[in-house]
Amino acid sequence: MDRTTPVPGDDALDLTSTGPGTGGIAPRARFDSGLPELSLDGQWRFLLSPSPLAAPAGVGEEDFDDSGWGSIPVPSSWPMHGHGQPAYTNVVYPFPVDPPFVPDANPIGDHRRRFDVPDELLGGALLRFDGVDSAAAVWLNGRLLGTTRGSRLPTEFEVGDLLRRRDNVLAVRVAQFSAASYVEDQDMWWLPGIFRSVTLLAHPAGALRDVFVHAAFAGGRGELRVEVDGPDRELTRVSVPELDVRDLAPGVTLDAGPVRPWSAERPHLYDLVVRTPAQRVTLRVGFRTVTVEDSQIRVNGNPVLFRGVNRHEHHPDFGRAVPAQTALDELRLMKRHNLNAIRTSHYPPHPDVLRWADELGFYVIDECDLETHGFSHVGWRRNPSGDPAYRDALLDRMARMVERDKNHPSVLIWSLGNEAGVGDNLEAMAGWVKERDPSRLVHYEGDWQRAGYVDVYSRMYPSVTEVEAIGQFEEPEVDDPELDAHRRGLPFLMCEYAHAMGNGPGGLSEYQAAFESSPRLHGGFVWEWLEHGIHRTTPDGVRYDAYGGDFGEPVHDGNFVIDGLVSADRVPRPGLLDVKKVVEPVRMAVGEDWRTLSLTNLHDVSDLSEFALRWCVRDETGRRSDGGLDPVRVAPGQSATVALPAEVTGERIDGRVLTVSLVLAHAADWAPEGHEVAWCQAGRVPAQPVAPVASPAAPVSTPDGLRLGPALFDAGTGLLRCLRGLPVDGPEFGLWRAPTDNDRGTDSTAGGRRPADADVWERLGLPRLVSRTVSVESTGDGLVVVRRSGTAGRDHAVDVTYRWESDGAGLRLAVEVNPVGPWTGTWARIGIDLTLPATLTEVEWAGLGPGPKYPDTGQAQRQGWYSATVADLGVDYVRPQENGARAGVSRLRLRDPASGRELTVRGPEFSFTARPWSQRALASARHTFDLAPDGRLYLMLDHAQHGIGTASCGPGPLPRYTLTPGPARFDLWFE
Ligand code: GAL
Repeated sequence: MDRTTPVPGDDALDLTSTGPGTGGIAPRARFDSGLPELSLDGQWRFLLSPSPLAAPAGVGEEDFDDSGWGSIPVPSSWPMHGHGQPAYTNVVYPFPVDPPFVPDANPIGDHRRRFDVPDELLGGALLRFDGVDSAAAVWLNGRLLGTTRGSRLPTEFEVGDLLRRRDNVLAVRVAQFSAASYVEDQDMWWLPGIFRSVTLLAHPAGALRDVFVHAAFAGGRGELRVEVDGPDRELTRVSVPELDVRDLAPGVTLDAGPVRPWSAERPHLYDLVVRTPAQRVTLRVGFRTVTVEDSQIRVNGNPVLFRGVNRHEHHPDFGRAVPAQTALDELRLMKRHNLNAIRTSHYPPHPDVLRWADELGFYVIDECDLETHGFSHVGWRRNPSGDPAYRDALLDRMARMVERDKNHPSVLIWSLGNEAGVGDNLEAMAGWVKERDPSRLVHYEGDWQRAGYVDVYSRMYPSVTEVEAIGQFEEPEVDDPELDAHRRGLPFLMCEYAHAMGNGPGGLSEYQAAFESSPRLHGGFVWEWLEHGIHRTTPDGVRYDAYGGDFGEPVHDGNFVIDGLVSADRVPRPGLLDVKKVVEPVRMAVGEDWRTLSLTNLHDVSDLSEFALRWCVRDETGRRSDGGLDPVRVAPGQSATVALPAEVTGERIDGRVLTVSLVLAHAADWAPEGHEVAWCQAGRVPAQPVAPVASPAAPVSTPDGLRLGPALFDAGTGLLRCLRGLPVDGPEFGLWRAPTDNDRGTDSTAGGRRPADADVWERLGLPRLVSRTVSVESTGDGLVVVRRSGTAGRDHAVDVTYRWESDGAGLRLAVEVNPVGPWTGTWARIGIDLTLPATLTEVEWAGLGPGPKYPDTGQAQRQGWYSATVADLGVDYVRPQENGARAGVSRLRLRDPASGRELTVRGPEFSFTARPWSQRALASARHTFDLAPDGRLYLMLDHAQHGIGTASCGPGPLPRYTLTPGPARFDLWFE
């Protein structure tokens, strides 16, 4: 259809409006009204146009002919269904900063659906949109109902007078961009669509409009007051059957007597019924009180520590339309990893999420749908946070979040938004919410330097040193003394820390130690829970996770959207296991003599009565003994030491490892009975010192090279050719690794003084080391090979001396590393690289496992004896990078299952990485599909590794995990 003459209603979208949506009813709580509902989810007719100018006129008219359109599911993000493409930017707007305008190239998705209405919905009804990204105009039966703004917020229209029994026509025109896009610049994919449900709700004349439950807890008693908004207020009564509360009138404050309070640890909920002549509304309520006392956040009087994550809503196949089961399962997965807090970054979540947070037990920072970060690129000029033209819209967003979510006990804190700079509108939002709901705290990180109108001092990605200082109230002063005094009195949390991008996050333990040592520090929220990969398939049928730039976006931020503790498929990355261990709510330690177990209970309310204790001893032979321990009760915040039974103490023999686990005594709705919450170990796998060989054999010169015990060396280079019948290349000396995302980042806390490690390594030439053999010397005791490794154009180098000795069967290698010339910066690692046949696919080791560990990661790894295949050792990070090193290893065995050939490496403590591709291949791959086994096995045996840190956004590795150039010595044994 050509657009020649404008048709009334077609400008209905009002794309340049900086105000809120129009035509909807006042915001109100989300509750189950007990009245009929009709879901309008399902297949809708759909047409995508490249711009408003190209979009057909008259789509809102009843008789508009949509027979030529395609169809799309609602809810959906249309680019996930073959219409247009996803696009990713972090900070930068994908359009010129020209508010309130957006470019003509503004995809328009027209949606239409016809439906019949059952009788019970004809006596008054509301049409609810739970989320439309980003701006929509809505028509019912040819009449324009209004517009929606605030993508992650609901809009309800009154439609009673328009509905008919048969063949209603609902039309929704959605624009991807509008003036409102300037306030929705969150770091995520731009994914337009009606991505949450559309529902018709019966709303007869007498129906309750709104309910606000105030359920507080103090001194063991509950206090209840329920405000209602509805025509029959006088006839409305509230009851809580379990508490024998009956016929409570709205607005009356009741001492509900002794109640079980709600907390994330013990999320007790009561059914509350609001009865009106027209309906029976049931709400699940929790009694709890949030306060700030002595610069501490307390829930029901108890200080709380947030073990939190930032949670975005994304699905690799469906975009923002996340299936309910996926969301519920992920909350359970969080609980199983000791997480107790969620920041709904950076918008109110799907309403079910808060219902589950109430039920499963999470402390929630509910964040408003507001971010204007892209204005930072233009000096914050015309930032909507300070622009009066946007004030109503921002206040409207705040109100719609608070009204929708106000009855959830899980919500402790309202957040104004994220990275929206500073401005009066933010202050107005805070002022409004303090009036409307003084029972909760207000959070906004972006104004941290002044923090005048917030109740918590919040930062993102500060260094541990800064956090420790804040814990001691020693933060730098704010220039205004009044503001300084205000901020200095606030409790502190990190709304973001530990950037979980790629391999990492490194350095979690030090943050946790700080949190646990200062009452002012309330922990933080790891950035972030989820990677936002999008499933795509190569022409050869290989599935991969796509990221920014994979859709041809002219402006994008690459793989910065892949920074989660779980993959887009919700598969835990190693970092999640580390988080679980680091934040474990009970710290345990076994005495040196295995006679005692000490426990420190870091819970807020639990006295450990829901847990059982188990022990298990293992050794190298696979022998295993285990049993239970008597339950221990420890008050929150307290420690206790208990005797271990003689049965356990008697197991204490060198080379055995004891693990004590604290497990759920009964199944919870998020984990089965026996689920492990905390653990500790005593004992170690046997150390394997490599002593010099007592009567070493001398090398024998053969036509093939120098033979020494089980090895054959190249007489010219001194490199191995063959070991125990296996062809070998190496050892090459290695100082480099395929940079991780964190290696590529610039430490944001170092004030620009610390370049990215990966760049330092590049400048030092570490990826391009070349070696020259200085000498190959056969002695009566073995072979001494000296090689110098340097790099093109530079005069620094490393002299490496390899001393090989053999007792005939095995081979000892003593490596001595001596830097030569002017070295600066850091090294990625110090190790040797061997290339072996790829048929060695089976791996066994003694040391830390089963997962990877680098100096400042791998807290989840335990002493033990492990086996895996080479393929299993790797972590398939979406952008390939260094991964999968096993550390603290004293014995490694590689085996070819077909031939039975083996190679064993022993050493006092080394780390190893085994992969079917080279470091170089790993470093140059952009996606997982770029990596293919090349027929060799690449084995890295490392004496040291540089830490991981979180410089992809935040601090780099701490000094103690920094590998600086210097001499080193290590020994290995091959057999
Ligand atoms: C923060 C921001 C997040 C995310 C993160 C980096 O500044 O609030 O949305 O962009 O950095 O991944």
